[in-house]
Amino acid sequence: MDRHEISALAHADHPIAAPVSEATVGRLLGRAIRRPDAHLLDLGCGAGTWLLRALQAHPEVTAVGVDLSDAGFGRTRAAVAEFGAEDRLELSRQDVTEFRPARKADVVLSGAAYAFGELLPALDAAQEHLAENGMVLLGDCFWESEPEPAFRAEMEDGPQKYADLPATIAAIVGHGWTPVYGHVSTLEEWDEYEWCWTGSLAQWALDHPDHPDHEQALKTSAGHRDGWLNGSRGVLGFVSLLLRRTNP
Ligand SMILES: C[S@@+](CC[C@H](N)C(=O)[O-])C[C@H]1O[C@@H](n2cnc3c(N)ncnc32)[C@H](O)[C@@H]1O
Repeated sequence: MDRHEISALAHADHPIAAPVSEATVGRLLGRAIRRPDAHLLDLGCGAGTWLLRALQAHPEVTAVGVDLSDAGFGRTRAAVAEFGAEDRLELSRQDVTEFRPARKADVVLSGAAYAFGELLPALDAAQEHLAENGMVLLGDCFWESEPEPAFRAEMEDGPQKYADLPATIAAIVGHGWTPVYGHVSTLEEWDEYEWCWTGSLAQWALDHPDHPDHEQALKTSAGHRDGWLNGSRGVLGFVSLLLRRTNP
C-alpha cells in the first residue's frame, strides 16, 4: 500500500485532509467566494473535497483541482454527479509545479505549500494563477509551541521550515500579501482530524484481518497516533488565511 492509498483510507471519515471542521470550511469558502460565478483552482486538492463543498454551496461556481494522486477523484466526481454539477468540476492528476491552467482563478486554494518548497514560493505560484482582485485561501502549519528537537527535525526534514504564528503572518505580509480573514484550527478540530485519521485506518485494518496490508495499516495507524499524542498535539498549529495582494 503506498502513501496515497493509506491517505485515502485514513481520510474516509474526514475527507478534508486538514484539521479543519466542515463548519470552518463553509465559512472560509463563503468569505472567499465574492461573486456567484467565481472560478476556483485548488493546487494540491487531495480528493477535491474543498471544491466539492464550494460547488454544493454555490450553484454557479466552477472549479479545477490538481493533485499528484487521483485516489479520491472517483468518489468526489460521483458526489458531484449526484447534484448534476459534473460540468463545473475538473480534476487533474498532475504535478502542481507543472500545471498551466487555461484561465485565471478568482480563488486559488493552496494547501500543499511544501510542493513548492516553502510557503512564500507557494504564494508566488498561487499569484501566477490569480485573476485581478482574486484571493488565495492558504492552509499551512506553524509552531503553536516549541517542539521537541526530534519532532522539529521530523517535520522540517524537507525544504519547508515552520515558524510561530506571528512570524508566519509577518513573513506573508512582508511578501506583499494582506490577510483579510483567518482561522486558527482549534484543539477540537485537531483531535477530530487525528482521531478520524488513525481510527479510520485502524477500522479498515481490523475489518480486513486477512488482507496482505492488514499489518502495515495497523502499524501506520498506531505510529501516527503515537506521534500525535507524544509529539504534535498542542505543538503543531494550522492556520487558514484568506490573502489579497497588498499592491495589486
Ligand atoms: C495535506 S493534503 C491537502 C489536500 C486538500 N487540500 C485537503 O485539504 O483536503 C496535500 C495534498 O497535496 C498533494 N501534493 C503534494 N505535492 C504535490 C505536487 N507536487 N503536485 C500536486 N499535488 C501535490 C498531495 O498528494 C496531497 O493530496
